[in-house]
Amino acid sequence: MSSFTEQLVSEHKNVLLTREQINQKVRAMAAQISQDYKGEVPVLICVLNGSFLFFTDLVRELTIDCEVDFVKISSYGDALKSSGKIDVLKNVDCPLEGRHVLIVEDIIDTGLSVHFLRRWIKKLNPASMRFVSLLVKEGTAIVDYECEYRGFTIGKEFVIGYGLDYKQLFRNLPEIYIMPEALLDAMNK
Ligand code: IMP
Ligand code: MG
Repeated sequence: MSSFTEQLVSEHKNVLLTREQINQKVRAMAAQISQDYKGEVPVLICVLNGSFLFFTDLVRELTIDCEVDFVKISSYGDALKSSGKIDVLKNVDCPLEGRHVLIVEDIIDTGLSVHFLRRWIKKLNPASMRFVSLLVKEGTAIVDYECEYRGFTIGKEFVIGYGLDYKQLFRNLPEIYIMPEALLDAMNK
């Protein structure tokens, strides 16, 4: 019996974004951020767990001085849709008062996480705050949100790989895949 990961990668048609497409996009986003923050030392905040691969690839491409920090919030559990309720599981360690802050997300779907993070981080009095997201789903927002640096705009489909999970699996894959129905069924048998 092959693993769920093998079942997913065996069919190339499931790939939404290749390694090369992701690399190119990450390099372009890092170049833009390096240009916009020239002369500043921003704090980049990784929103765990989903953005861990995007974050590490992005910061490696930056040419400015920068600091990194990590937060963890939860909202999905094992479901395909946001529960709407967000918990802070790990707070920032670095004082953000007077700092230029960039919050790095993997994907924006309902917009609830970004909306929540913006209000929460604002209370820490940063000098400025911007959001970066590799993926933005189109037509799925249920709240207004702002995201200044956007990678790819994608459809409504549930995606996995490159940090994104379904039931905690597939985060390790270097490509981004659309979750196939058959795999969803197999994992919920
Ligand atoms: P939002 O709060 O609904 O915008 O969702 C944000 C979070 O939900 C993201 O940071 C992801 O962790 C997760 N998420 C949203 N859509 C997907 C998806 O298609 N695949 C995997 N995780 C997702
Ligand atoms: Mg996430």
